[in-house]
Amino acid sequence: MVTELSDHPLLQHQLTILRDVSTDASAFRQACSGMTQILVAEAAKSLKVETRTVQTPLEEAEGYRIAGSVVFVPILRAGLGMLDDAMATIPESSVGYIGLERDESTAVASCYYAKMPELDPDSQVFVLDPMLATGGSAVQCVDQLKQSGAKKVSMICVIAAPEGIACLREAHPDVPVVAGKIDRELNHQKYILPGLGDFGDRLFNT
Ligand code: PRP
Ligand code: URA
Repeated sequence: MVTELSDHPLLQHQLTILRDVSTDASAFRQACSGMTQILVAEAAKSLKVETRTVQTPLEEAEGYRIAGSVVFVPILRAGLGMLDDAMATIPESSVGYIGLERDESTAVASCYYAKMPELDPDSQVFVLDPMLATGGSAVQCVDQLKQSGAKKVSMICVIAAPEGIACLREAHPDVPVVAGKIDRELNHQKYILPGLGDFGDRLFNT
């Protein structure tokens, strides 16, 4: 299932700032932060809750808590731009890291780092990667998460290309995607059009 949030006014506003080539790194980080808060809140709608009772200063009240653990896994580097806001949204979460880098000529990603917290079948894992282009990085990440025991994995991205969505759906049909916007297509260098360029370079000013 793919959820696209492109009709959300705040998201439209932030995405346009991200796309704008004249946006500097500082404003880019701010817009990324704003978008991530909305995307994570949307993805978190799938979380299961359990009831719990609390004592207010006046009386008992029925309430809820998130059932099971929540794990955020940013794909380095660009996913790091989403991590702070994701953790702020769900402060009880754990964090795993995976480093994947696309070869500039082939656009095929290879893994250079992985460090995961304990994952059990009830853990809800949210992969953070702003750009779902060919889908190669996302598929490799989900492959590793499932090998580590994850059963519930969702993908959160700022922009997705139709090609990347199709690739992820083919390899992992059980992984829902929450995307700010589904863009038109990839160019011959496997960059998303209209896109925003290289997210990692714009985020880290490299
Ligand atoms: C970018 C982006 C994604 C990946 C998406 O990373 O952050 O991880 O490309 O492309 P794909 O869907 O075709 O795999 P990049 O390899 O540029 O590394 P970086 O984040 O370190 O800049
Ligand atoms: N990674 C990016 O940062 N941008 C793209 O358009 C595709 C992959």
